[in-house]
This record gives sequence, C-alpha cells and structure tokens, in this order.
Amino acid sequence: MDRIRIVGGKPLHGIIPISGAKNATLPLMIASLLTDQTLILDNVPRLADVINLQRILGNHGVDVMLSGKRPGDSEYQGQTMHISAARIVDTTAPYELVSKMRASFWVIAPLVARMGEAKVSLPGGCAIGTRPVDLLIMALERLGVEIEIDAGYVIARAPKGLRGGEIKFPKVTVSGTHTALMAAVLANGKTQIENAACEPEVTDVADCLNKMGAKITGAGTPTITIEGVSKLSGARHSVLPDRIETGTYAMAVAMTGGDVTLSGARPELLQAGLDVLTQTGVEISATNAGIRVRRNGSGISPVDVSTAPFPAFPTDLQAQLMALMTRAKGTSRITETIFENRFMHVQELARFGARIQLDGETAIVEGVNKLKGAPVMATDLRASVSLVIAALAAEGESMINRVYHLDRGFERLEDKLVACGAQVERISS
Ligand code: UD1
Repeated sequence: MDRIRIVGGKPLHGIIPISGAKNATLPLMIASLLTDQTLILDNVPRLADVINLQRILGNHGVDVMLSGKRPGDSEYQGQTMHISAARIVDTTAPYELVSKMRASFWVIAPLVARMGEAKVSLPGGCAIGTRPVDLLIMALERLGVEIEIDAGYVIARAPKGLRGGEIKFPKVTVSGTHTALMAAVLANGKTQIENAACEPEVTDVADCLNKMGAKITGAGTPTITIEGVSKLSGARHSVLPDRIETGTYAMAVAMTGGDVTLSGARPELLQAGLDVLTQTGVEISATNAGIRVRRNGSGISPVDVSTAPFPAFPTDLQAQLMALMTRAKGTSRITETIFENRFMHVQELARFGARIQLDGETAIVEGVNKLKGAPVMATDLRASVSLVIAALAAEGESMINRVYHLDRGFERLEDKLVACGAQVERISS
C-alpha cells in the first residue's frame, strides 16, 4: 500500500492547476446511460473513483474510451472521455462493485428510466455516518417506480415507463437531486423538484443533460422543473473545475504561507470558503488565470464556521479547515451539520500535537504554536488531505499511510505540491 512522506516547513510558491471536479465527473459519466449515443466529456480528472466507475459502467455494457495527453496539452490537462451506452447488456449493479463507491448507486436512476428496470446493491463508500438512500428511493417512487428491497439489493421496476411528479426533499441532498434529475428527464410529463441541492455540480450535470436534449430549468436554485422527453442524444461537455480541490490547496497555502495561483479555479464556486480564508488572514484575489492566494508572515486568525449546503461552507472542506485552525492564534469552533461522524481526522490531527475537543457536532480547536511531524493514517477522502495540510506545516517528517483514499479524489497531489516547493514523496510498496 502506498504511503506519502512529507517534510514540513516549506512555504508554497507557484502555480497549481485545478482539475475537473470529481463530484461532477461521476454523475456525468452515469448520465451517459440515458442515451444510446456517445457522450463526450472533456476535463476528466485522473482519479481512482473515475476508473472504478468505468468498471461499473463496463459491467452494464458501456464502452469507455479515454484519450489522454495530446501534442500541445500541458501535463495537467484533463482527459477526454468518450462514453457509449449504445446497448445496455445488464441492468444489475453488483455488491462487489457498488460497495467500493457510494456514487455508483446512482446508476439506478438512468437504468430504470431507460430500461424500465434496475437492480442495484445498497452502497458503500467513505465511512462517514450512515449515509442512507431513503430519499433517492422516495424520489424514484414519486416518479412511478416500484421499489423492492431484497437481500441487500434495491430492485426498481417501471415496465410502463416513468411519469412526472412532485418531489419535495425534506432535507437538501445532492445524491437525491442527481437521482431525481436523471430519472425525470425521460419521464412522461412534468416533474418539479422542491428543496433541490444547489451545488454547482448539480448545475453542471443539468447543463450537460440539456445539451443532450433534456428540458431542465431552475438548476442551481431550490426549485427545478423538468419537462420529460422520450429520448436523449449524445453531446460534448467539459467538466467544471473542482471547488473542493481549489479550497484544499488554498488552505494548504494559508497553512504554510507563500503565494500560489490556483489556475483554472473559479471563485464563484466557493465564495463562502474564500470568505472564511480571508477571515483567517489570507489574501485572496481573482485573476485572469484563476485565484491567487497569499499569506506572508502574518499569523492565522481563528474562525467560527458551520458547514451547510451550497452556497454555505462545504462539509468537504471541514477537515482541511480544521487542520488550518490547529495553528491559529486562538480558539476556533467548527460545526458539522451535514454528516454525523465526520470527525475521524480529529484523533489523527492530535498526533501532530493539535488540541481539539469534540462537543457533539462541534469541534473546538485551540491553536498551538507548532505541530510536530508524525506517522498518521488516512481514514476518508477529505480527512486524508487534512493530514497532508497539517504535515506540510509540521516540524520534521510525517508519514501518511493508506493514501488510496487520497487517490480517489485528488489528481497528482504530490506532483502539484512538489512543483510549489513542498517536500513530498510517494513511497510505493
Ligand atoms: C455528495 C458529495 C459529497 C459531499 C455531499 C454533501 C458526491 C459524489 N459526493 O454526497 O462529497 O460531502 O454531497 O455536499 O457528489 N441523506 C439521507 N437520505 C438519503 C440521502 C442523503 O438522509 O437518501 C442525508 C445524508 O446522510 C447526509 C445528507 O443527506 O446527511 C446530505 O447527503 P447528500 O447531499 O446526498 O450527499 P452525497 O450526495 O452522498
């Protein structure tokens, strides 16, 4: 299993290219199941989750062709993916595949919408709380899908096709909104989704579906309206930049000090995150190339932050912010409102000498003068990268174990950091 060795204490200077968003790429790939024509995606990141989903789609008979670097491309340019679900040979998504990645459960919506049936294992993925699928099932039922749960599988049937309906989510759910959208585009009649997730990745998927011939309005707001169509066609779409990767590197610069341009990043995708960083004392500016992040000499100010659905501060940056606050001049409070049990990084951060106490869903972080390098264990995707941020500022050497979590969501992490002067090395075994 690979490990990452980091010797901390170096400020970051240079340019970090931001990759395509993982959380848009996965549902976009899944949307390819809705049409028998080819969907072409540009700016696809090289990530373990993308490869895993390729395998899952392959099991349904989908052909995926990837073209990587071409003459003139920079080494970080995303890949182009041609996805063809001309013939779906199997509507079952087995446990062995779905248990590796929660988002693969979402294939249930396009499969039942196009084929009238789907049998999908209950999901796995990051161990952050119970993460149920009750709201995804509710959304499908509102569109006329009959659901049966048997031996760990959800069996969805709609032999006469789906019909439009009203879906009102009792809480904001990204997975529920993706599922509702992908089912409703091929339903007979009009669907209205209330309390829909407004995350930019939902809007990106809706934009792509509209290019494929869907009739979706209101994506990016809490009310989305879909006029069902009988067939979708192929399209070409470029994945939007990853706002979580952007925020993560911005926090890394805030932690180490330095001056880095996050090229290709779009500030409007993470305004709440950038506002919090500004409060901590970092200088942020939008440039033609992306976002410039600077901290020179000044200390880190403590903050009081709660995670919440977009446009508020994202849960996917909570662990990274906590790492940053371990070095603040004073006490910070970070409250997690989206997922229970998303504090697994707390005990690992403590190995560097961080002082963090948990009080229900709030972490109280008392800033310390210095962190010391330590061996630590990556637990989930975002928690893992918070350990990288801490290690970059810690005195001496840290070893991060179980980095496969990082590979699921961060493209060429060590290359991007090394290019900015960090001392980071992957040890393969
Ligand atoms: C997505 C993101 C993840 C991010 C999260 C919140 C992807 C691949 N993953 O996850 O990185 O942290 O949004 O921004 O895009 N819930 C239910 N019942 C359901 C579905 C969800 O109770 O049927 C709950 C969840 O347990 C959680 C909350 O709703 O407490 C939000 O979950 P959701 O927005 O659906 O997260 P994901 O789509 O799984």
